[in-house]
Amino acid sequence: MARPRFATTAPLLALAVLAAVASVAVATAPAGKDPGGFVVTGRVYCDPCRAGFETNVSKSIPGATVSVECRHYGAGRESLKAEATTDEKGWYKVEIDQDHQEEICEVVLDKSSDPACSETEKTRDRSRVPLTSNNGLKQNGIRYANPIAFFRKEPLADCGSILQKYDLQDAPETP
Ligand SMILES: *[C@@H]1O[C@H](CO)[C@@H](O)[C@H](O)[C@H]1NC(C)=O
Repeated sequence: MARPRFATTAPLLALAVLAAVASVAVATAPAGKDPGGFVVTGRVYCDPCRAGFETNVSKSIPGATVSVECRHYGAGRESLKAEATTDEKGWYKVEIDQDHQEEICEVVLDKSSDPACSETEKTRDRSRVPLTSNNGLKQNGIRYANPIAFFRKEPLADCGSILQKYDLQDAPETP
């Protein structure tokens, strides 16, 4: 294999150093034209009554895994998949280092750590989250996704009365 002679590698090395310095300068360019940089955060809980909302028997699920998935509109091609695990309070955090304009990004449930509460339902196992700074949202950095629930396979015995209570709260006038 032919190797470049020493005399030619020194200028190359100098160029490489210059390039490295230049890229650091780009990376630390002032915000505003920032190409992205988000933290997606949210909570995963157990919905023992399969209610679709939180009740007094819902519980956070620590150690559950979720992924953040982005797809270009139209083309189904996946452009990002990042994974995270919930902490002891059921919160996850995913760092995203790019802007995802013209993409649909969602947090999707992967796996529950609680076998008794590990069912998912199509469309209810995800939460959309905008990952672009070009959508009029002024807040930078943190994006909160709606809480997402795993369901218990068999609702708890007292779910009937629990849900009734929430129904009554929602509808002030009962028929
Ligand atoms: C939840 O609310 C229901 C209905 O008011 C009640 O019977 C039940 O004891 C409550 N459960 C807990 C865990 O607080």
